[in-house]
Amino acid sequence: MAFGIPHLDVKLELSIRSDMKRVEELLREQIQGEYPLVIETSRHLVEAGGKRLRPLLALLAAQFGDPKRKEIIEAAVVCELTHLATLYHDDVMDEAPLRRGVESANARWNNTVAILTGDYLFAKASDLLADLGPEAVRLQARTFERLVIGQITETQGSTAGLSMLDHYLKVVADKTGSLIATSARFGALLSGAPVEVVEALTTFGEKIGVVFQLADDVIDIASESNESGKTPGTDLREGVPTLVTLFVLESADSADAELKAILSAPIKDEAIVALTLKQLRSHKAMEQSKDLLHKYADEARLELNSLPDGAAKRALIELCETIITRTS
Ligand code: IPE
Ligand code: IPE
Ligand code: MG
Ligand code: MG
Repeated sequence: MAFGIPHLDVKLELSIRSDMKRVEELLREQIQGEYPLVIETSRHLVEAGGKRLRPLLALLAAQFGDPKRKEIIEAAVVCELTHLATLYHDDVMDEAPLRRGVESANARWNNTVAILTGDYLFAKASDLLADLGPEAVRLQARTFERLVIGQITETQGSTAGLSMLDHYLKVVADKTGSLIATSARFGALLSGAPVEVVEALTTFGEKIGVVFQLADDVIDIASESNESGKTPGTDLREGVPTLVTLFVLESADSADAELKAILSAPIKDEAIVALTLKQLRSHKAMEQSKDLLHKYADEARLELNSLPDGAAKRALIELCETIITRTS
């Protein structure tokens, strides 16, 4: 299966494959610099792989205009570099030991190196972005602003007026939906797609981005191995409330009292992490989480209705499916 899309049209597959090759080349070219340590530390996660979801979405969105424009490749690389930089920073915040199946930069080197490597990648993304003109720079800046606000507000918890779940959904839209929406928007915009198509793809990107993060949160609890490339239970160890734990925390069932008490603070004891993961996997909160995820995925799919039929639209519909089935 190519790019996680089960029935990708053969012609489209060839075209995406050749574009993705250019994305990979430019990505590697772009992290070159004069200081060997920073090249080594940034190469660390570039080479470790990752799903390249954001470039893929940019390339698929570009199919609704002229997909051959070289700016599309540049924008796809800008999105991946931005994403990558946030991963370096996120792993410092979350004290995560593993990323993309390899040691996180903070674990392999230290927090200072990880933070500055993230900054280096932002610098490299900005350099490339400058070629795309002021409107692209503004789009990226505003996206990045939302992403950062999402990351900060996640650490703050719900403020006046918002339930914990609504706060969480806002955090998710900001920290993850923002950049995935912009990846689709860049692809559509730079291909010269009609304005209504650009808007539909942006909204689709935002919604599928939320679904993607909800799925990621479910996997953090459901996955019994490091197959996701990350360590399951990282959010529990850090006391970061996520979809599944929020449903437990909002439960009025007295049988949940003990679990709620455990979830209300970081869990430092590995035996308790393991036990809590086991309890959560069979808790009804897991089903509630998956139901919500499906609801958002249905909404995302609706956004595609207005797009012209064809291989790219079918690929986006299947991409929704792939994101959901990661959790089952
Ligand atoms: C991880 O993103 C951070 C989230 C937004 C959940 P990805 O799951 O896209 O990470 P890579 O790029 O495949 O490593
Ligand atoms: C990642 O959030 C979002 C960003 C990096 C902006 P998470 O902390 O939930 O993602 P993972 O699980 O570490 O990939
Ligand atoms: Mg994290
Ligand atoms: Mg985080």
